[in-house]
Amino acid sequence: MGVSMASSGSRATSLLLLLFSFAFSLFLLFSSATSTDTISAHHSLSGNQTVTSRGGTFVLGFFTPPGSTGTTSFNYYIGIWYNNISELTPVWVANRVTPVTEPTASELKISDDGNLALLDQFKSIIWSTNVTAISSSNSTTVAVILDKGNLQLRDESNSSLVFWQSFDQPIGTLLPGAKFGINKITKRSQRLTSWKSKVDPAPGIFSFEMDQEGSFQYFCFWNSSRTYCTTGLWDGRIFSQMNELPPVYIVNFQVVNETDENYFTYTVIDPNHLTSRYVIDSEYGQIQLLTWIENSNSWQLIWARPRSKCSVYGVCGPFGSCHDLPTPFCTCVKGFRIKSQTDWGLGDRSQGCERMISLQCSGQNNSEEDGFFKMENVRLPDNSLSLAMLGSSQDCEQACLSNCTCNAYSFSSTGCFVWHGELLNLQEELNELDAGILYLRLAASELQISENNKKRKVAHISLGVVTAVVCLFMIGGFVWKRERRRAIQNSKVVQNSLVSFMYDELRIATKNFSVELGGGGFGSVFKGSLPGSIDIAVKKLEGLYQGEKQFRAEVSILGVIQHVNLIRLIGFCSQGTKKLLVYEFMPCGSLADQLFRSNSNVLDWKTRYRIAIGTARGLAYLHEQCRDNIIHCDIKPENILLDDALVPKVADFGLAKLVGRNFSKVLTTIRGSRGYIAPEWISGMPITTKVDVYSYGMMLFEIISGKRNLVSATESCFEFFPSVATSKLINGDVEVLLDHRLEGEADMGELAIACKLAGWCIQDDESSRPTMSQVVQALEGNLNINIPPMPKFLQRLSDSCADNINSPRNFSSNQNSNCRASSTQINNATT
Ligand SMILES: *[C@@H]1O[C@H](CO)[C@@H](O)[C@H](O)[C@H]1NC(C)=O
Ligand SMILES: *[C@@H]1O[C@H](CO)[C@@H](O)[C@H](O)[C@H]1NC(C)=O
Ligand SMILES: *[C@@H]1O[C@H](CO)[C@@H](O)[C@H](O)[C@H]1NC(C)=O
Ligand SMILES: *[C@@H]1O[C@H](CO)[C@@H](O)[C@H](O)[C@H]1NC(C)=O
Ligand SMILES: *[C@@H]1O[C@H](CO)[C@@H](O)[C@H](O)[C@H]1NC(C)=O
Ligand SMILES: *[C@@H]1O[C@H](CO)[C@@H](O)[C@H](O)[C@H]1NC(C)=O
Ligand SMILES: *[C@@H]1O[C@H](CO)[C@@H](O)[C@H](O)[C@H]1NC(C)=O
Ligand SMILES: *[C@@H]1O[C@H](CO)[C@@H](O)[C@H](O)[C@H]1NC(C)=O
Ligand SMILES: *[C@@H]1O[C@H](CO)[C@@H](O)[C@H](O)[C@H]1NC(C)=O
Repeated sequence: MGVSMASSGSRATSLLLLLFSFAFSLFLLFSSATSTDTISAHHSLSGNQTVTSRGGTFVLGFFTPPGSTGTTSFNYYIGIWYNNISELTPVWVANRVTPVTEPTASELKISDDGNLALLDQFKSIIWSTNVTAISSSNSTTVAVILDKGNLQLRDESNSSLVFWQSFDQPIGTLLPGAKFGINKITKRSQRLTSWKSKVDPAPGIFSFEMDQEGSFQYFCFWNSSRTYCTTGLWDGRIFSQMNELPPVYIVNFQVVNETDENYFTYTVIDPNHLTSRYVIDSEYGQIQLLTWIENSNSWQLIWARPRSKCSVYGVCGPFGSCHDLPTPFCTCVKGFRIKSQTDWGLGDRSQGCERMISLQCSGQNNSEEDGFFKMENVRLPDNSLSLAMLGSSQDCEQACLSNCTCNAYSFSSTGCFVWHGELLNLQEELNELDAGILYLRLAASELQISENNKKRKVAHISLGVVTAVVCLFMIGGFVWKRERRRAIQNSKVVQNSLVSFMYDELRIATKNFSVELGGGGFGSVFKGSLPGSIDIAVKKLEGLYQGEKQFRAEVSILGVIQHVNLIRLIGFCSQGTKKLLVYEFMPCGSLADQLFRSNSNVLDWKTRYRIAIGTARGLAYLHEQCRDNIIHCDIKPENILLDDALVPKVADFGLAKLVGRNFSKVLTTIRGSRGYIAPEWISGMPITTKVDVYSYGMMLFEIISGKRNLVSATESCFEFFPSVATSKLINGDVEVLLDHRLEGEADMGELAIACKLAGWCIQDDESSRPTMSQVVQALEGNLNINIPPMPKFLQRLSDSCADNINSPRNFSSNQNSNCRASSTQINNATT
């Protein structure tokens, strides 16, 4: 345009015109910068210019990360962020390791070779798309920001000729629609690497990528080497280790196996959460699904893995220690302080902690100078050196003292272990039974300081203690007398103490483990009898580590509690690797045996209701009446055993957790069984006793229907009994829900209570669920309950199924005809 105008007139005016029109077109170009979505040869970006995707969703331009302070506030990056979100949220960064400081003098442009390049104020290229194929194709390229948040470098005239796209290089965020996988030919996988800190997009220590071996699973890595989480294999429907109910009602996963690539991608299906994204968190290394909540102007976490931040490897850095309590989350171990307060504050703990007083270490085993601080209940760090030949704690201590790089040792029945160099991955106040004791090496002066502090504290406390003790004596004398009288009366009652059996005794008692009663994940259960014809069930634990853990959990919990509705542990055997548990024998097997077997002897309604109440009482005792609260974590019909009078006994405490009173805790690993796991396990919320209430609710539905809620994965969602039951309940139609084998023989009042109660137990929000003692009251008829609302996850489940099933009415009509058939039978029989 400018040139054709300049062709007429004198040379001087033409030059002037040329200049003018050039300036004018420049002005046009720059003023249109805010409205276009394209960077081309004539249109570059600099300063606070941006390009916006056509639909106005995403913006590309220079930004400085929100929260930057001090020197980092002068760092500018080219990035993509949401246009319509009040909080600047970068989803991709070009120059993640090479920020510019003068955005107005820097330029993002199409360079001569056709690549998109970022030039700093000295006009040197500090970042480029760096594609070599452009020059050989004769293309004129443009860079376009698309509405999905993808920046594409492509041919100007042929938009399907794409040379490069930002979706192939995700930076901390995985947007819906992006492919995330592995190229089978180049073997190169997309790696989602965390930001280094909240304000620094440089690669951090955590990453997430597809299995390099080509299987459909993803791993989280610490420093590209150490795995700390996995999705498990894709089973065609879900990733196995993600357990059930990933947020399927929010996002839709797609897993694609093509000739040259394998990848995963997702779309958001929930219209209320359209602005959602997966990120790898820079601070905790978690994979998180975040969603933008317009009303609160903030990103909300809906899902995270690993669920416990402390199970992320090395999350607190060297000499840092992780606590599962909400805050403060990472601390330094005793005698250490934060090395870089600024980085730590921004969530970058890679430098961890440093000693406050350096070791005196003389290289000799002279214990005058350094000493050890005893840390109890810790998760021991990795990379220990085993000194198996050292047989005593003193020798182990000496071995550590004699080497200046040794920072800690641990001595237990498994032997002597020492740690050289940095201690990583420590966790304190571990409420786990497998926690250990670590002796941390500190300078003698450091230990003296704490010794003095302790003495001072003791002096303060002891005065108080004396008065308290005097009071206690006065009360105690009275109680003691009463207790003693009671003990004498009950002298026949079996004592609380457990019997320690020899392996051979149990081998003989079980006739060489010949009668198997059943098996589980941890081992098999055998029938046996002790002298005096006392029948027992002997559980033989298998799998070294898990078995050991389960053994200790059961002994420590069942050894101290007794209740008519809890299985009684008679004793145990722990001989080397042989770990066995001895229980009272339950002649009627498990509730699952009684409920789901197809033939004769169907449990009648009265018995079912009694079992429901008994189980609830046992759980209420665990949750509310023990010294510590106990969460069973694996309530299901298999774990409810029945004695000869069909009295239910809650069994299998292998996954149970002791938690202090009034204290909720994030557990490190998902526990429980498919079909009974509460949704908060998946979302990363703290776990309370309400997870058992949820499982109980699921079980109660099975007691009502006499069928498994979840028969098989492929079965249509319409047959998911809890959904059906809840909707029937809302329509006031409970009779059809009863196990049809009972032919309508049930107390309809009790049936209604059970149905409503089960619906309340499985509410999404744990605070809406009743406590176990409220469940007991309700079942006993002492608490009025309303119709429960449909839990959200069930609602979504049936919504998403409605599209897949042609005749959704089939199910209910079948049910009705069944019930009619049965009621006519009854009528015939009675008349
Ligand atoms: C950025 O743009 C605003 C107007 O949109 C202008 O007032 C401001 O001076 C610009 N800043 C720079 C550094 O160019
Ligand atoms: C973003 O906001 C602009 C103007 O406020 C509007 O025109 C556009 O439709 C919005 N885009 C989206 C994706 O919400
Ligand atoms: C472009 O790629 C080449 C080789 O792959 C590499 O040596 C060079 O540093 C890259 N340039 C930029 C600016 O990234
Ligand atoms: C590129 O353009 C040149 C001249 O315009 C032509 O000779 C050549 O064949 C073109 N190459 C390709 C790959 O199109
Ligand atoms: C555009 O590019 C694609 C991919 O290279 C090619 O298959 C297609 O033929 C091209 N279309 C035109 C009109 O050149
Ligand atoms: C992908 O498909 C190929 C060919 O059908 C098959 O051999 C391969 O096992 C598949 N890969 C995965 C991870 O399923
Ligand atoms: C990460 O690994 C590299 C080599 O694999 C090593 O040099 C580096 O020190 C490691 N980083 C940390 C923080 O341990
Ligand atoms: C270290 O102590 C052991 C036993 O306590 C002793 O045998 C050894 O000689 C000592 N070594 C040095 C270097 O003092
Ligand atoms: C200390 O232990 C480290 C690691 O085992 C070893 O490499 C080093 O030689 C030892 N130093 C001394 C003085 O024994």
